[in-house]
Amino acid sequence: MKPLPIVVLISGRGSNLQAIIDAADPLVDIKAVISNRPDAKGLASAQAANIVTKVIDHRQFADRETFDEALQKRIDNYQPSLVVLAGFMRILSDKFVAHYRGRLLNIHPSLLPKFKGLHTHERALAEGVKEHGASVHFVTEALDAGPVILQAKVPVLPTDDVDTLAARVLKEEHRIYPQVIHWFAEGRLQLRGDKFFLDGQAK
Ligand code: GRF
Repeated sequence: MKPLPIVVLISGRGSNLQAIIDAADPLVDIKAVISNRPDAKGLASAQAANIVTKVIDHRQFADRETFDEALQKRIDNYQPSLVVLAGFMRILSDKFVAHYRGRLLNIHPSLLPKFKGLHTHERALAEGVKEHGASVHFVTEALDAGPVILQAKVPVLPTDDVDTLAARVLKEEHRIYPQVIHWFAEGRLQLRGDKFFLDGQAK
């Protein structure tokens, strides 16, 4: 089987990118890593793995639409079958999302639909939930609301602070994101309308 060409979008640390690189999945070919921030640490991880990197700084564009157009154009140069958001901290326009419908994944540090948006660990602690985690989902037009493909749950301990909880969740992120990408590369995952299918079964 020919490996699946993917492009990974990052904005910062890039630990999920590193997990995808470390998975060294023979079915996955990371064609490029694109960051909207020139100082994203993840760029160095990509370079260390001999992956092409590109910065498209959103601050150099007048508005979201022109940035998204430039990003889309650059991504499409690499002809990916899958675009992976890995800590990419920009809201994407509906036009962009529609263009990659069914081949755009995100990881979110909460058990969606709980705690969409930012500061998920703080909010989980403030609410006193007993369980927290991470979700990999297809991206659709509504923020953090696309169909969830795989979740990992972790306990919230009485002694937790934001850092300990975030670390426990992150460890799970690093496990489930490469797993979902592998399923996609195997051709087992599909988005139809607003539902996702695994092995042809609606979930
Ligand atoms: C992760 O917690 C991810 O779920 C969220 O942003 C963070 C990115 O971390 N979307 P990293 O850059 O992959 O280390």
